[in-house]
Amino acid sequence: MNEKNLVAKVLFDALSGDLTLEQIEKLLEKPKSSELGDIAFPAFSLAKTRRKAPQIIAQEIVENIDTTGFEKVLATGPYINFFLDKPLVATNVINEIVEKENFYADQAIGNGTNVTIDMSSPNIAKPFSIGHLRSTVIGDSLANIYQKIGYNPVRINHLGDWGKQFGMLITAYKLWGDEKAVQAHPIDELLKLYVRINAEAETNPQLDEDARAWFRKLEDGDKEALALWKWFRDESLLEFKRIYDKLGVDFDSYNGEAFYNDKMSEILDILGAKNLLKESEGATIVDLEKYNLNPALIKKSDGATLYITRDLAAALYRKRTYDFAKSLYVVGGEQTGHFKQLKAVLTEMGYDWAKDIEHVPFGLVTRDGKKLSTRKGNIIRLEPTIDEAVERALKQINDKNPDLTNKENVAHQVGTGAIKFYDLKTDRTNGYDFNLEEMVSFEGETGPYVQYAHARIRSILRKANYQAQANLTISANDAESWEIVKLLQSFPDIIKRAADKYEPSIIAKYAISLAQAFNKYYAHVRILEENEGLQSRLALANATAIVLKESLRLLGVQAPEEM
Ligand code: ARG
Repeated sequence: MNEKNLVAKVLFDALSGDLTLEQIEKLLEKPKSSELGDIAFPAFSLAKTRRKAPQIIAQEIVENIDTTGFEKVLATGPYINFFLDKPLVATNVINEIVEKENFYADQAIGNGTNVTIDMSSPNIAKPFSIGHLRSTVIGDSLANIYQKIGYNPVRINHLGDWGKQFGMLITAYKLWGDEKAVQAHPIDELLKLYVRINAEAETNPQLDEDARAWFRKLEDGDKEALALWKWFRDESLLEFKRIYDKLGVDFDSYNGEAFYNDKMSEILDILGAKNLLKESEGATIVDLEKYNLNPALIKKSDGATLYITRDLAAALYRKRTYDFAKSLYVVGGEQTGHFKQLKAVLTEMGYDWAKDIEHVPFGLVTRDGKKLSTRKGNIIRLEPTIDEAVERALKQINDKNPDLTNKENVAHQVGTGAIKFYDLKTDRTNGYDFNLEEMVSFEGETGPYVQYAHARIRSILRKANYQAQANLTISANDAESWEIVKLLQSFPDIIKRAADKYEPSIIAKYAISLAQAFNKYYAHVRILEENEGLQSRLALANATAIVLKESLRLLGVQAPEEM
């Protein structure tokens, strides 16, 4: 039970039915200063029903309150102020954490049901963009968070592996391609071919015709076209997988757009049977005027199916395969219209589970304040950037802790963790400026800062030969340790809120606060001093390290023992 529940419960018992438990919980406030206790209840919310001055009401209630678990409960003017029994709260929460370790704050909300998470989903033969990185990192963190509250996450990489761009690529490859070059650097070479044919097609319409013809062949199952497609796909995927390895992210499914080729006709049949299809200038659409949305384009005039048609098939397939309780799509904010259409069409098709579909958008990354653009050459190439982050981390480790064993490995954890953490601490729908130096800094609100706080605690515990003990009495009377205890106690709520809002930044900010609170404690209190409070202080430090590590894990960031 957290402190708010506890206060709400004793108030409820003292109020004899004036308010419900939920109403009371909503009214509870955090006092502006700690001199006014930990939680306050505004008695004027009862002035109407009790027809008395709020000061009097506050006093009346206080007389009826069961103060077990509190240091004291006071009526201060129109407020009732609750002062928690610090040693009691501290003892409960610290012992719980020390006992449960990384299982602390696990919740059973999801009952083991599935949550599908559409994440990363880069396009074959195009570079893996920073947007795809955001989707990968946010999606992976949401998967961890949902798992923590009892769901079974299913990470799905909806690869962009079909569409007219493959007609363009095949045409370009047949004209200018070099097999060895593609094998050596698939994404670079395919991108070159893609850029060249797009440029030349502007003055040479024949190329566009050829590309259309090749794509049609591909859709018709032509052997040569399919073999080239498969080769491009395999080579690109190998390169993407290298990035995923570096980031430590795994997928349960790589079923991309092509996977739904044989599942589209069913969608058209259902839409037809429900009388939802309309002809418009030769194309087939679903009208969405009643949703105030543009019509969804289901089939082009030349018969080619479209992005949304594939997403309709994918949604249905996921519902049938995973029977999801929720289906998330971690995709940039520029596709908001697309996902509104997707939900609307599914609703029109009569699927009540359309309500469980959630687009989780995120903002744009800039560099030097400017928008990234492949055409203008302002691009961030992901693999070299990850490598550079690792090098920067290594350099700092060499400065600070040259004798560290396993340096390369720690540098990898710090460098990749820095990029992920920086992304995740940003409010999801905001963008940020990509600044590697700031990301990898050991100071400020960064991943390395939190990792460092964790490693520092672990080293303190090693120095003290710490052994966990059950049922230890914890005193947390000083302001610094009480601050830590309150943060530790709020961890389950923090996780729940992050899940409800699809917002890993809530956990990242929490981890920063906890690391800061510990560093403050460390500056004020001599943890290792040999006196009777030693075991209590070590247990507090241990609980902090456990929760810091678990917070980082939920963000997909590792916590080295030493750095
Ligand atoms: N491949 C798309 C892109 O790069 C993202 C796909 C997102 N997922 C989906 N089911 N539509 O823009």
